[in-house]
Amino acid sequence: MDTLTLVCTVSLLGAGGLYWFVFILGSAEQKGKRAVKLSGGSIEREHVQEEYNQYWSFFRKPKEIEKAENVPAFVDTFYNLVTDIYEWGWGQSFHFSPAIPGKSNLESTKIHEQMAVDLINVKPGQKILDAGCGVGGPMRAIAAHSGCNVVGITINEYQVSRAKAHNKKAGLDHLCDVVCGNFLEMPFEDECFDGAYSIEATCHAPKLEDVYSEIFRVLKPGSLYVSYEWVTTELYRGEDPEHVEVIHGIERGDALPGLRSYSDIAEVAKKVGFEVVKEKDLAKPPARPWWSRLKMGRIAYWRNHILVMVLETIGIAPKGTVDVHEMLFKTADYLTRGGETGIFSPMHMILCKKPEKPQES
Ligand SMILES: C[S@@+](CC[C@H](N)C(=O)[O-])C[C@H]1O[C@@H](n2cnc3c(N)ncnc32)[C@H](O)[C@@H]1O
Repeated sequence: MDTLTLVCTVSLLGAGGLYWFVFILGSAEQKGKRAVKLSGGSIEREHVQEEYNQYWSFFRKPKEIEKAENVPAFVDTFYNLVTDIYEWGWGQSFHFSPAIPGKSNLESTKIHEQMAVDLINVKPGQKILDAGCGVGGPMRAIAAHSGCNVVGITINEYQVSRAKAHNKKAGLDHLCDVVCGNFLEMPFEDECFDGAYSIEATCHAPKLEDVYSEIFRVLKPGSLYVSYEWVTTELYRGEDPEHVEVIHGIERGDALPGLRSYSDIAEVAKKVGFEVVKEKDLAKPPARPWWSRLKMGRIAYWRNHILVMVLETIGIAPKGTVDVHEMLFKTADYLTRGGETGIFSPMHMILCKKPEKPQES
């Protein structure tokens, strides 16, 4: 083989390998996003690094996070930074679910979502609320399963555009609608929904009563609301430095103003007027570990990390993407430790009912 043939062969193999690495290996499970399309959401690409630094500055001033009015903006920044990476590396549903033997991650995710709508006992054609809907993975599974009209709300404008595009592509836009807004002051009339659910979203509310009372307001009397809450469990010990480190790690890597104890949830629900129908930690055995997907995803994480570094270096991904990816990588470790030690659950389920109006005599 002469030198020219050798150079051409090596170049072709190199180009083919790069194409495979970027487009085939590095694509999302559901092809929701490709690595070459990673962005900073609604943040202009030249400001991604700055916004990432700004996000971390919140944790250097914990008092700022305690100010409830600052939290939605801080959560919005977080979702601008992570939405594309979540879609690319995880899929269109931004939540966990117990592993189910013989089922893929996608199937287990869908079963977990369908269970939420089955619990609220709604009929086809009724209108239900998805409080904190992300890019709408759960919304589409729930609309297709129940035949309900689902209205999602998210604080993040970029997620609204992603969710709408996915709804259209899935042929479910006649059942699914998405609005940009704050679930602490929703742009909906009183008593206009036949049911509501929230999946791993209300943990972002500085005060749980603020979001629960809004959901209570928009529900029709007699209807049901189910939430999968992120909580510390009965095994969490505030005096154990390792426990504290894990919980702080989860809060920082997931834009949480402060994780709540499992024991506070029902109390808050009752305080805003709900009757508590059922409460159960869906992560408890015999449920299989929800964090196994994170553990098994470590190799994929490293592959993706190399890819993100290459893309940022050659200017395809915005500057700051590597930092965001690394933050999520570290957070995955804290989440896994939270799951393994049993001190944290992302699926403490609470089913609540808005009481019927008293009959007028
Ligand atoms: C972890 S994601 C879960 C998304 C979705 N439930 C899912 O499982 O795919 C949390 C969601 O809550 C939304 N969120 C957080 N705080 C919010 C607020 N104050 N108002 C509206 N949405 C909010 C975020 O924008 C994000 O869409």
